[in-house]
Amino acid sequence: LQTKKDQLLAVHESATAFYHQVLMNTVTGEEALKYLKERGFTTELLEEFQIGFSPSDKTATQQIMKQRNYSEQLMRESGIFSDRTDSDELLDRFASRIIFPLRNEKGQTIAFSGRTLPKKALESSDFHEAKYLNSPETVLFSKRNYLFNLDKARVQMRKTSEVVLFEGYMDVISAWNAGVKNGVASMGTALTEEQIRILNKMVDSVVITFDGDRAGLEATKKAVDLLNDSRHFEVSVFPMLGGMDPDDYIQQKGAPAFLEGLSNQRESSFQFQSRYLKANLDLDSETNRLVYLEKVLRMLVEVDSIIERELYLNELSEEFELDPAVLKNQLLIYQQEFM
Ligand code: GTP
Ligand code: MN
Ligand code: MN
Ligand code: MN
Ligand code: MN
Repeated sequence: LQTKKDQLLAVHESATAFYHQVLMNTVTGEEALKYLKERGFTTELLEEFQIGFSPSDKTATQQIMKQRNYSEQLMRESGIFSDRTDSDELLDRFASRIIFPLRNEKGQTIAFSGRTLPKKALESSDFHEAKYLNSPETVLFSKRNYLFNLDKARVQMRKTSEVVLFEGYMDVISAWNAGVKNGVASMGTALTEEQIRILNKMVDSVVITFDGDRAGLEATKKAVDLLNDSRHFEVSVFPMLGGMDPDDYIQQKGAPAFLEGLSNQRESSFQFQSRYLKANLDLDSETNRLVYLEKVLRMLVEVDSIIERELYLNELSEEFELDPAVLKNQLLIYQQEFM
């Protein structure tokens, strides 16, 4: 006898195959397919990630499921259908959206995320629907414990003991296509303790490359702090600038540039924290320069490598035209306070 989980996995497998078939081989999927191709998705990539499209007819998915004899109760528990109470019908919550199957570490689909197609100008104005819609929490799917692409990325993660952390799964897929085989993403939520625990078992090094907008910068700051708190990882950041996200970067500058940047243009945790401070302080003011120097020197106390400390200290001394010996004295004072 199948357990509830097995049954729900079977429902998700059927739905994945259905959505994928609609995208790849039907008129209904044509517009979505065209959009994805324009965004650089090759057929191989669409196959590899089993990307799909859910028809605008909200009852289509239910009809397919009924042919497979899944019970109504099971379908309701799958989270695929909207839980509107005023309708007896099971209506697909992802209708008219591009479908990204969310796979567990074994590669089984346990949830979906649906992306809207860009609206034509005429239809756009009246109401705003969320760009992405995820399955709700179910027996199979818990967002806090989930990292997108862990099943595919784990081989390279183990091999290199490193993970590349992205903000969106579009970035993960785009980077995968560019040759980054150890990339994962959380589902738009801030990085959780649970996700960190998963990474803890697999890697020693985390490279964060979130979106180059304000939200991405704040999310990077939170992730860097949380990862440093766990005292397990070497943390670095590949910064996206000018509001670009990694997918934009790859589309605009090409895969080789992204790969090169990912390995050679990384900021250490300290360098990121300094940049973050600067983004929030106007250093034209003398008061702010003093605030900045104090904070940066206090952060420098926590840099373990003597060589790195010396390097950053010299950079600060040049930047602020201060005698390195003075900075060193101040650093010593903070070091004693710290201990
Ligand atoms: P594209 O716009 O298609 O390039 O996607 P993106 O990955 O650049 O999306 P964005 O940077 O806006 O968001 C990053 C991640 O946040 C996504 O992968 C989602 O997981 C999540 N997210 C973004 N917008 C929404 C939303 O409207 N609802 C939900 N639930 N999640 C969202
Ligand atoms: Mn196929
Ligand atoms: Mn973003
Ligand atoms: Mn983005
Ligand atoms: Mn994007």
